[in-house]
Amino acid sequence: MEDAYIIHGGKPLIGEVRLSGAKNSALKVIIASLLFDTPVTIQNVPHIGDINDLLTLINSLGGKARFTAQNQVMVDGSSIKKDTIAFLYASKIRVSFMLFAPLLYRLGKGNIPNPGGCRIGSRPIDRHIECMRALNIHVSYSESDGYYRASLEKTRIQGGTLRFKKSSHTGTEFALMLSCCAEGETVIENICLEPEIDDLVLFLTQAGAHIQKKDKTLIVQGVKKLSTDSPYYISPDRNEAVTFALFAVATKGSLIVHDINAINIQTFIDVLKKAGGGVEHESSALRFYYNRQLSATDVTTGVHPRFMTDWQAPWAVLMTQAEGDSTLHETVFENRFSYVEELRKLGAHIDYFSPLVHNPNDIYQFNISKNGAQKHQAIRIHGKTLLHNGVLQVSDLRAGASMLLAASIAEGESIIRGASVIDRGYESIDKKLQSVGALIKKV
Ligand code: EPU
Repeated sequence: MEDAYIIHGGKPLIGEVRLSGAKNSALKVIIASLLFDTPVTIQNVPHIGDINDLLTLINSLGGKARFTAQNQVMVDGSSIKKDTIAFLYASKIRVSFMLFAPLLYRLGKGNIPNPGGCRIGSRPIDRHIECMRALNIHVSYSESDGYYRASLEKTRIQGGTLRFKKSSHTGTEFALMLSCCAEGETVIENICLEPEIDDLVLFLTQAGAHIQKKDKTLIVQGVKKLSTDSPYYISPDRNEAVTFALFAVATKGSLIVHDINAINIQTFIDVLKKAGGGVEHESSALRFYYNRQLSATDVTTGVHPRFMTDWQAPWAVLMTQAEGDSTLHETVFENRFSYVEELRKLGAHIDYFSPLVHNPNDIYQFNISKNGAQKHQAIRIHGKTLLHNGVLQVSDLRAGASMLLAASIAEGESIIRGASVIDRGYESIDKKLQSVGALIKKV
């Protein structure tokens, strides 16, 4: 296999698509299942690279985790024996670090190397380490082998109070997993509010966890065990919903997206309408369509409920089709514009610029380096541009989605190398796009 997608662009996409389960919910629900006394059945799990890598990793520790039907996964953590995750597996997925929660719960110790995942900045894990220390877990890092080592002093994790100086999505979920089976109460302050976290809270609560959410605080009363005898159903993927919405409007087509939870993408819907994109409710689905000539619209990313960082790469493609100059200011990750160089290869006119920010520490979610300087946290897209075909290289998941989108608008045949990076997070994207008229194939 060439690990590439070939797309013949320039065709409006018209039809209906169904969303898969959310990658960023399924990964965490699978990891949290390892805390359970019972085997857990999870439904609507997307069949994607990241999930396959996580299941392999769990099996490498002695746990049981596998697809038992099309989108159904069974997880049983009771047989976990090994306390060390091999570099080979940890380097593939960033969530490998969250396995500290079940390893500490089951074995009282764990060794996990620095995590991998999409290259979208340095992506440190200091906030996760702080979580562990706030709960009296002993953690050390060995530079010689790149491993974090964690252990408990008592038989159970001890509840405590922790406050994120800057919030973290997976950090919040990690703190939840550590605290739900801890001894006593844990208070987690300044949490993220992403809907995927609500999914995890619901899953744990249904299994006996005691979790209360008050604004940006979680109060968790630790329980001795979690168990379930009914399957858990993963919510639809809001990032996939946004991706299809952008395919509809940017290709001048019309897509009805089923299984969508509009409230979770309301900010996106508002911005899309402002730019001139069409959105209407069709019973339990939403239809996204090309309505009129798009107008340049400025966007700043942020944590939920603001415009999500995962949406900005495909949004930039849409803005190449808008009349005028639009800006995109990324505030969550410090390096999420890897697609810009690739879009330029198709003729997009995009410049970097540094917005004037008086209080970077408050504005940016990433850690500000000592000299405080942030370079190129924004781009300016000059529209409208006729895109042409080209050969592109995918570096991260959402950048990959933006390249598929750009190639679908561009005249002629484009090659997108790195299909497997896209397949890490999008289930059967080629088949879903083919079903609405796209000329795409994997080679
Ligand atoms: N950060 C630190 N230290 C930490 C943790 C985070 O400096 O210990 C920084 C990050 O580097 C980033 C910012 O804080 O600049 C916010 O990161 P956060 O921890 O909130 O992000 P994440 O948990 O690593 C998750 C999703 C991302 C999504 C973000 C924002 C998963 C597996 N990943 O990442 O999804 O973009 O939250 O909602 O849930 C994707 O699906 O393609 C993806 C990257």
